[in-house]
Amino acid sequence: MDITLSPCTGLNGVISMNGDKSISHRALMLGAISRGVTNITNLSTSEDVHSTENCIRDLGVKVTKREGITSVHGVGLHGFIKPDVMLNAGNSGTTMRLMSGLLIGQNFDSVITGDESLCKRPMGRIIEPLKRMGASILATNNNYAPLRIHGAPVFPMFYTLPMASAQVKSCILLAALYAEGLTRIKEPLSSRNHTELMLADFGIKLERRSHLISIQGGQQPIAFAITIPGDVSSASFFIAAATLVPNSTVTIKDVGLNQTRIGFIRVLQRMGAQIDINPAITNQKELLGDVTVRSSELRSTTITAENIPSMIDELPVFAVVASQAKGITTVKGAGELRVKESDRLRAITENLRQMGIEINELEDGFIIHGPQLLKGAHIDSFNDHRMAMAFSIAALIAQDVTTIHNAECVSISMPEFFQIIDSLISKDQ
Ligand code: S3P
Repeated sequence: MDITLSPCTGLNGVISMNGDKSISHRALMLGAISRGVTNITNLSTSEDVHSTENCIRDLGVKVTKREGITSVHGVGLHGFIKPDVMLNAGNSGTTMRLMSGLLIGQNFDSVITGDESLCKRPMGRIIEPLKRMGASILATNNNYAPLRIHGAPVFPMFYTLPMASAQVKSCILLAALYAEGLTRIKEPLSSRNHTELMLADFGIKLERRSHLISIQGGQQPIAFAITIPGDVSSASFFIAAATLVPNSTVTIKDVGLNQTRIGFIRVLQRMGAQIDINPAITNQKELLGDVTVRSSELRSTTITAENIPSMIDELPVFAVVASQAKGITTVKGAGELRVKESDRLRAITENLRQMGIEINELEDGFIIHGPQLLKGAHIDSFNDHRMAMAFSIAALIAQDVTTIHNAECVSISMPEFFQIIDSLISKDQ
């Protein structure tokens, strides 16, 4: 599907995001291995989360939906049944990596695969630690899906993560539930902590000291009612849009404000963006609130490795923002972008150049001198949802029209993306 977008003169309105994708994956998986029924309100409507739902259904877990609530009928830590099909994670790295942590603890063999993009993404980063926990996993070149996982007894370990990755950390935390003894994980930098917060909600004791997490195996999760905040990564596209398009004021209601996820908002505020955060008072561990954004003039900034984990998924749209900020914006320490749904550093560079922007691509980041004029262009989504959405935002401030090719991939995280844009475009344009 091709989508053509014209520059606009203002974005205004109050919007809500569907449930956070990262938290939704975890709610389904922990619900599946818990005792009791986990009722989830505002589960993400993304294709990625459907992939997780399909995987747990294939493992014999009943999932029902009624009046906006998804109920996962937990089967307990050891209650999965051997699937008679290959599990399919689709495009979702989180599904494949976290599910693998659960699968090594089962008393049957299973195979998990994904789409063309996912089968090119590195799985060595989970295979190596899972093997150290006793798993036997067969993969193409020891690195790529499909993964053939042999369920076996799981051993605890002490593991230092070679990169800041919430997917790898979470994979090990889930596997650790099946281990006899204490597993300890050390992170180089703090990555998103949704798994730790949700494990605690499901009654699992775990300890966190600085960058070290310890978890005792054999603890049985107990079902818990979860309300999922709006997806702050999805919100980042509208935050960028309202900042860049003149005459805009946009409020995003009930969006997730977990500190490990709001690096993009903090960086934009540092660059001069007018973003007001109004936290809600709840008794939930996952913070949420309303975010109001107004059009702003931006100055450049420098992003280093420490900033990356809390804005990892926002870097494509951040590059668009950087092209409009006054001065030199540098992003370094973001080499992980090369192994996302596309090589995002390459895709950012090619697409910004396509729109007339000069950008210096680095091995682990980029440098942009701003502000520069964005020109309407033909944009390739690289079948990567975040590229399609980032360049749709660029189109709103470009000269002339822009066409986004293969734009349907937005459904991977936000099927309603283009409807929300339409709803914000001032009606008198
Ligand atoms: C995610 C973690 C991040 C992020 C991805 C979702 C998660 O990946 O980019 O979109 O839900 O744990 P890494 O852990 O590979 O950095």
